[in-house]
Amino acid sequence: MTTPQPSRRAVIRGSGSALPARRVSNAELTETVDTSDAWIVERTGIRFRHIAGEGETTATLATEAAQKALAAAGLEPGQVGLIVLATATPDQTFPATATKVQTALGINDCIAFDVQAVCSGFLYALSVADSMIRGGAADVALVIGAETFSRILDWDDRGTCVLFGDGAGAVVLCAETALDTPDRAGVLSVSLHADGRHNDLLYVDGGPSTTGTVGKLRMKGPEVFKHAVTNLAAVLREVLEKAALTMADVDWVVPHQANRRILDATARKLGMSADRIVVTVDLHANTSAASVPLAFDVAIRDGRIKPGDLVVFEAMGGGFTWGAAAVRL
Ligand code: COA
Repeated sequence: MTTPQPSRRAVIRGSGSALPARRVSNAELTETVDTSDAWIVERTGIRFRHIAGEGETTATLATEAAQKALAAAGLEPGQVGLIVLATATPDQTFPATATKVQTALGINDCIAFDVQAVCSGFLYALSVADSMIRGGAADVALVIGAETFSRILDWDDRGTCVLFGDGAGAVVLCAETALDTPDRAGVLSVSLHADGRHNDLLYVDGGPSTTGTVGKLRMKGPEVFKHAVTNLAAVLREVLEKAALTMADVDWVVPHQANRRILDATARKLGMSADRIVVTVDLHANTSAASVPLAFDVAIRDGRIKPGDLVVFEAMGGGFTWGAAAVRL
């Protein structure tokens, strides 16, 4: 018989989040957009969103979230070896916003780059950081989702502009080497997908290599909705199967916060109780890559998610891209 060997895992040791100072209610939106509080609440569950003001950017929000996550983990910026930042709204086309965050944190040398998978960005970033930690490239990683979607919205398109908000969320991943036990903490499994055939359902109509402009967000909402429910239910099942777990083992699902109706429909499809789903879409709207870590941080800080809990993250976004991760805290 072979003796079990210790293995290296990436464990979440802290989280943080940041929101722009300005909070905008549905009622305030009706002053400039042809919409109503009743329509937005009924179709999406959204009541508020935060909108970045002057001086607030993806990098400043990401930096604040990262500082809080490091404080929660009891770590100094100098201990960070890797920053992976998920965003579709970088401060500049290049360099990576991760390098701005690095400098703002006072770190002179570490690995730092952005990943772009729109609303699934945090899942992609978590997967990359998890692999790099397990492979030995870093011992401490900041995984950040940060966005300022308000800057790519067409404020004359009521079908999209009411749905999104700005914000950032971050987690600190630390390498830990131990023998495997059923309740051992760490990232247990990740499933990622992309299907570029659906580009025209959710996209930005500009870019450096095409129009030379930033462009505005365009979406065929009802079609996105149908794909979201199917893909999210499937990837949730898949990620649990990979980790030899079932829905009954899950303490909390932290989903991408796009629309209350998507969350409810996905839960129904999985036969899952709604009181195990973290919902913040009412307060933050859809913050794209920021939404999962932002919702996670809210539920950590209000005491819902506790050490030892099994948490599943899931998200779907433009591309389409979609993914899920099962994590033991
Ligand atoms: N206020 C008032 N009316 C609005 C409106 C608004 N902000 N936006 C659209 N409408 C109107 C439409 O013009 C349409 O009117 P009509 O019937 O007279 O033509 C009506 O509401 C229904 O529009 P429709 O787009 O079919 O509504 P819907 O029930 O599908 O809801 C979304 C629209 C966008 C809320 C919904 O499709 C959705 O959430 N889709 C998924 C989007 C998403 O999650 N994207 C991100 C994934 S990362």
